[in-house]
Amino acid sequence: MKVTQIYLLLHLILTTSVLVDTLSVTGFMSNLWKRLSFQGSCDSLKFNAEGLRADLESKLFGQHIASPIIQKAVTGFMNDDNPKKPLVLSLHGPTGTGKNFVSKLIADNIYKKGMDSNRVHVFVSTYHFPHPSQIDIYKSQLQEWIKGNVTKCERSMFIFDEMDQMHPGLIDSIMVYLGYYHKLDGVSYRKVIFLFLSNAGSKVIIETALKFWKEGREREAIELKDVEKDITESVLNNNLSGFWHSRLIEKSMVDFFVPFLPLEYGHIIKCVMAEMKAKGLELNQDVAHSTANEFIYFPTFERVFSVKGCKSVENRMKFYI
Ligand SMILES: Nc1ncnc2c1ncn2[C@@H]1O[C@H](COP(=O)(O)OP(=O)(O)OP(=O)(O)O)[C@@H](O)[C@H]1O
Ligand SMILES: [Mg+2]
Repeated sequence: MKVTQIYLLLHLILTTSVLVDTLSVTGFMSNLWKRLSFQGSCDSLKFNAEGLRADLESKLFGQHIASPIIQKAVTGFMNDDNPKKPLVLSLHGPTGTGKNFVSKLIADNIYKKGMDSNRVHVFVSTYHFPHPSQIDIYKSQLQEWIKGNVTKCERSMFIFDEMDQMHPGLIDSIMVYLGYYHKLDGVSYRKVIFLFLSNAGSKVIIETALKFWKEGREREAIELKDVEKDITESVLNNNLSGFWHSRLIEKSMVDFFVPFLPLEYGHIIKCVMAEMKAKGLELNQDVAHSTANEFIYFPTFERVFSVKGCKSVENRMKFYI
């Protein structure tokens, strides 16, 4: 079948599916179309260890635990020509603290086209897999998608956002790719990077950060071990994310649980300044403070952490420039 015929067929199915039901069907159909249209070669790699280190150090604010873990894990993995398993990182933390942002920094320093590379695949649970009744379709689509793309380009990256909202059946369908298998059905997944993003464990991370603040201890004194065990436990006890974590932990699939700390006023200032720079504007401290003052901070009296992290800095900054 020619590409144009496939397109027409898909168009028909898409139109019908809108009438019949659900965004989910159109979602996976458009994915299918993208896959069919991906007939070229794999986009180029250009791993830049120094660039990743510099980006994490200068562009990611307030994440002294996440930054070195990600830098070492990704660099070690990319420099290994024969890894024994895929790299699996589970990023946790409150909203707007840099989980998606870090995924972009990683992609920028591995793939020439960054997030636009045809080796990078992003899935958002509530968007791509919204209907539990469609789970069997999602499952086979997802597995086909992963297998097809890794067969073509072994150094691929799959980002699963809102992992804590993911249906257990789908989690199971991803699990098979994360282990130490040499090959599955002739395909090796050992050079793939899987990133799982979620807000799971945020409560514990926030409590720890707040405890340090109340005790007058430096934020930078918080270590991975101060939150790691609690994240695991709190997430296991959570109904929504419990299944996912029990499966991942049980089989030791995740290489690192990476905590993202809530951001403070000073970090919001840095985010605004970074946004000005990115827009080619003259750096202006007054604008940065006015913008940062617009944000809501918690707890109510202490006002230490930004409720939305650095989210919507761009939109809020517009009022002052
Ligand atoms: N730690 C950070 N350092 C620098 N910029 C940040 C940081 N956190 C967030 N930002 C800025 O805020 C924007 C939104 O953050 P991001 O999308 O990474 O949040 P998130 O942690 O994925 O949140 P959510 O849990 O809601 O998905 C980013 O694109 C980036 O511009
Ligand atoms: Mg996010």
